[in-house]
Amino acid sequence: MKRIPEEKIEAVRSATDIVGLIGEYVQLTKRGRNWFGLCPFHDENSPSFSVSADKQMFHCFGCGAGGNAITFVMDVENVPFTEAVAKLGVRAGVEVEVPDTEGSARERMPESHRRLIDAHTFAAEYYQHLLLNTVEGEEALEYLRGRGFTDGAIEKFGVGYSLGNSDSLARLLSRKGFSEEEMEEAGLVIRPEHGGSPFDRFRNRIMFPLHDANGRTVAFSGRVIEKAENEPKYLNSPETPIFNKGEILYNYHNARLAARKSGNVILFEGFMDVISADLAGIQSGVAIMGTALSDKHLSLLGRITRSVVICTDGDNAGWEAARRFSRLFKTGRTEATVAVIPDGMDPDDYIRKHGGEQFREQVIGQPHTLLSFAMMYARRGKNLNNENDILQYIHEVLEELAGNTTPVERDLYLNQLSRETGVSAEALTAQFRKAEAKNVRAEKPTPHKQERPPEKPAGKTRNTPVSRAERILLSHILRDGAVFAGIRDSEEGNPFFHDEYTAIYVNLAGFYEEFGEPDVHRFAESLQDPELRRIVMETAMSELSDEHVGEEVQDCIRHIRKYRIEMEIREKMQQSREAEKLHDHLRALELSKQIIELKKSLSAV
Ligand code: UTP
Ligand code: MN
Repeated sequence: MKRIPEEKIEAVRSATDIVGLIGEYVQLTKRGRNWFGLCPFHDENSPSFSVSADKQMFHCFGCGAGGNAITFVMDVENVPFTEAVAKLGVRAGVEVEVPDTEGSARERMPESHRRLIDAHTFAAEYYQHLLLNTVEGEEALEYLRGRGFTDGAIEKFGVGYSLGNSDSLARLLSRKGFSEEEMEEAGLVIRPEHGGSPFDRFRNRIMFPLHDANGRTVAFSGRVIEKAENEPKYLNSPETPIFNKGEILYNYHNARLAARKSGNVILFEGFMDVISADLAGIQSGVAIMGTALSDKHLSLLGRITRSVVICTDGDNAGWEAARRFSRLFKTGRTEATVAVIPDGMDPDDYIRKHGGEQFREQVIGQPHTLLSFAMMYARRGKNLNNENDILQYIHEVLEELAGNTTPVERDLYLNQLSRETGVSAEALTAQFRKAEAKNVRAEKPTPHKQERPPEKPAGKTRNTPVSRAERILLSHILRDGAVFAGIRDSEEGNPFFHDEYTAIYVNLAGFYEEFGEPDVHRFAESLQDPELRRIVMETAMSELSDEHVGEEVQDCIRHIRKYRIEMEIREKMQQSREAEKLHDHLRALELSKQIIELKKSLSAV
C-alpha cells in the first residue's frame, strides 16, 4: 500500500475531537467558546494557547503555533503525517493501515534489527531491575544517589546495573529465545574465540542505555563504580547494525521535544553532564558518545534547532573540543554559541558546586558568540603584558575575523582588541584590511562567499512590510487555486523573497498538482517542516476580504519584487565598498554598473 486513502484520513479526522486530544497533553480550561491552556510549544506562564471546538483547531497567540488535530500530533510527537494519522486512528478506534513506504520506522526495519532492539529493550529492563530491587545493585544505587540521581532521573534515563558474575544476561536472553549469534551481534555478549561458554560484555557496571532518534534502546554505556587502574571508566557497546557512535547523540529523543520549548539544544561532551543538566532543569541537552562531532550529528541537531549552545569541560581538553566544535558550526545554518565553564570544572562539577540556578543563568544563559569565544581561546595562556604574546594574540584574532565578519561585528571586536592590547583601533583596522585582503586572495574562486546577504534573518515573527505582503499573498494563493495558477504561469514564477515562503510556494505547487483544489489543512499536513506548517496555519487563520483580490495580489507582488531589487542593490553596494577597500577598482566599477541597471529596473516596477 502506497498511502493512506483520503477517506481513512477523513474518518480519523471526524472521529477525533481536538479538545479531548489536546487535553491529554495540556490542562485546558473553558473560557467563552474556546479552551485555554499553557502552550506546549513554548515556555510561558500565562495561557495564550487556545483550542476551538467549533473550528477543530488550536492556536497560540504567544508563539504563533497553530493547526488541527493531525498537525498537533505531528508537532508534539515529532512524527510524520502517516504516523500521526495512525496514532489518532488507534485513539479513535479507526483502523488505519500505515503504508510501509513511509510508515513508522519500526515497520521499515529489517526483522534482524528488530530482534537486536528487542534484546536491548529486554536487557535495559533487566539491568534496571538489578539496580533498584536487588542487594547486588545496592552499591551502584548508593553511588548514583551520592551523585544526586533522583528516582525520576533513574527512570527517565533508564539507568541500571549489570552483575559482576559472567553470564546472567546471556542465560536470560537465551531463555527468551535469542540465539548466541544474535546476542553477540547485539554486542551484549562475547563468545570466546576458542570455544567456551559465552559471557556478558558488561559486568559490574552502572548501565546507561543509549537510544536512537526514536527513543529505542540500541546500545549501552557502562560506568565502573570505583575507578580502578587499567580499566576504562566507561565501556561502550561495539558498533553493531543498530548502533553507530558517529550517528548517535545521547538524549536526542528527549531533547528534541524540550528544544521546542527552550529554543536551543545544549551540546555536552559527556552524557553524565546531560543528566546533571537535566537534574538542574535543562532538558534539551545532548552529548556525543566519546567520538568526534560528525556531519550526521550536525544534521541531527539542525533538524531540531537553529541554536546550539556548546558546553564542554573547562579544562584544556574541553577548550580544544569547544574550539573544534565551534569551527564545524561556522558555516552551517545552525547558529552556535559557547558556554564557558570556569576553573577547569566539567558541567557536572559546576552544578554540584554552584547549583542548578547559577548554571542555568550564568553559564548556559550567557554563552559567547563564536567570534568572542575565538578571542577568548586565542587569549588563553598568553600574557598580555608581554610584547610577543600581544603580537601573536593580535595576529590570531585578525586571522579569525578576516573574511568572517559583518562591519558591525568587526567594529565591535576590533575595539575590544584595542582595549585589551592597548594598540590603537586605527592600527588594528589597517592590519585587519591586510589580513582580509590575504583572505580574499586565498579564497579566490568565491570571493564573496562569506558575505551574508543583508537583513535576511530566519526570524520567527517578522513584521516588516515585505513580510506582510508575503503573508497576504500566501493567504490568497492558499485559498484560491486560480490565483495560484495565475502566478505560477506568469513569467516571473515564484514571487516570494524569504526562504520559508519560497519553500511553501514550491510545496503548494506540488499540492495543487495532486489535489487540484485548495485545502489548507490537508496542505499543512503534507509539510514536513513544522516551521512551514506554522506559517501556513497562521496565514490561513488571518482574516482576508474577498474584494479587489486581483488588485491586492498585484500590489503584494510588486511590493516584494521591489524589495528584492532593493536588497540586491544594498548587497552590491556593500560588495562594491569592500572591493574599493581592497583596491579592486575593476570589480567596483562592474558592480556600480550593475547597481545602475538595478535602479532603473526598480523604477519600472
Ligand atoms: P569524562 O571522563 O569527561 O566523563 O568523559 P564524565 O562525563 O566526567 O563522567 P564522570 O562524571 O566521571 O562519571 C566524557 C565522555 O567520554 C566518553 C564517555 O562517553 C563520556 O561520557 N568516555 C570517557 C569513554 O567512552 N570511555 C572512557 O573511559 C571515558
Ligand atoms: Mn564528570
